[in-house]
Amino acid sequence: MSDLSPADRAKDAAAVAAVALVESGMRLGLGSGSTAAQMVRRLAERVQGGGLQLRCAATSRATAELATQLGLVIEDLDEIGWLDLTLDGADEIDPDLNLIKGGGGALLREKITAAASDRLVVIADPTKVVEQLGAYHLPVEVVPFGLETTRVHIHKLLDQMDLTHRPMLLRNRDGKLFHTDEGNVILDLSLEVICEPERLGAGLTAIPGVVEHGLFLDMCELALIGSPDGSVMELTREVSA
Ligand code: 5RP
Repeated sequence: MSDLSPADRAKDAAAVAAVALVESGMRLGLGSGSTAAQMVRRLAERVQGGGLQLRCAATSRATAELATQLGLVIEDLDEIGWLDLTLDGADEIDPDLNLIKGGGGALLREKITAAASDRLVVIADPTKVVEQLGAYHLPVEVVPFGLETTRVHIHKLLDQMDLTHRPMLLRNRDGKLFHTDEGNVILDLSLEVICEPERLGAGLTAIPGVVEHGLFLDMCELALIGSPDGSVMELTREVSA
């Protein structure tokens, strides 16, 4: 572990703490991104150690590939039906454990998986903890058909919310248009600060052409924030039954 960067040591600490929550017999959702990938590696180590029977669904093709390479069996979410726990990363985490996700482009499958889970636990390094959401761009997954009209609708919504002239970039990766696992594209909204996340989320969801947005509101009940020294801070939120 000493050859890891401080950021990677922090991610690993969070990953180890997350995997400690896993019990035999669980149906588990595996998140996406670099922190979730570290969690998958740590989980595979535990499974290889024996005694842990799990059913796992992945939130992205990339995670499914990594998990399979490491010997974990991945099933379709619908084959499993419902999950006990999903462990995933986040791009921003506010004091109410509202999140921005989708930096890796997997927000749609991540949100479907989280919504099909009894518990969503996020794992992150301390740079992800913020007082208010919005410094990180907000990913919005949209269908390619009618992209420009969808963009106009989003601008109108932002105008109504006094978020005028905010940049909205069509995501590229490696110099090419980025497509999600579902074949959609992503608009990254630079909002600086999101004062009304519920209103913004509801407004985006109401726009035809928007498939999903990266605001995960009232979904997460525990955040495990790792530090380079190996310690882990737990941030919790009361969840109504
Ligand atoms: C992917 C995500 C990731 O969980 C998020 O981007 C965090 O990634 P990382 O752990 O690499 O910082 O939402 O869609």
